[in-house]
Amino acid sequence: MTIRVVILLSGRGSNFQAIVEAQLPIDIVAVVSNRPQAAGLDYARARGLHTVALDHTDHPDREAFDTLLADEIERHQPDLVVLAGYMRILSAAFIARFEGRLLNIHPSLLPMFPGLKTHERALAEGIKVHGCTVHFVTAQLDHGPIVIQAAVPVRTDDTPATLAARVLMQEHRIYPQAIRWFAEGRLEINRGCVNLKDDPTSQSVLSTGA
Ligand code: GAR
Repeated sequence: MTIRVVILLSGRGSNFQAIVEAQLPIDIVAVVSNRPQAAGLDYARARGLHTVALDHTDHPDREAFDTLLADEIERHQPDLVVLAGYMRILSAAFIARFEGRLLNIHPSLLPMFPGLKTHERALAEGIKVHGCTVHFVTAQLDHGPIVIQAAVPVRTDDTPATLAARVLMQEHRIYPQAIRWFAEGRLEINRGCVNLKDDPTSQSVLSTGA
């Protein structure tokens, strides 16, 4: 079965591209951005996908903007909403409307380093392993049931940019995987944790990559 997916992004859209290129059993019914100039929208248009630009600077009230955004998304009747570099905090009301069908990717091994500048903060802490996380979105920022993570080693000569690039390669691997599992109906949330159906060990929920 093909599921209907709405993508939400704010910028470059490389995760969105990785999702498209993975040829998943999904139908991307709309690509929505809060920034009209987002490069991700150009890519979507070039692929013939339906795009929507809703400029948040035209709507200073966050709640009102999020209501507009949620109404627009709902018009496309998505089974899943994918945050692919959507760089605005979502209101609790928005999250409540899509909870359970709202995925996010975050550039750290959550629950470490929620928020911004994750690579800078990882380097400042001197941690040796960093990575990325796909999780279901809940009201608490950058928390919520974890679907899959990938770890990368931190090198002594890393800069935020080199570390970000290494993590991004893993993001492009795990986001399509998480969406495939969702589309296959294999993700079960049990007491705040995600189990992968038909995988008694759930080993595949934890992936590592260099
Ligand atoms: C990605 O690294 C993603 O993990 C991060 O923004 C980047 C978007 O890149 N998301 C967040 O920080 C969300 N809190 P992309 O536009 O090339 O996919």
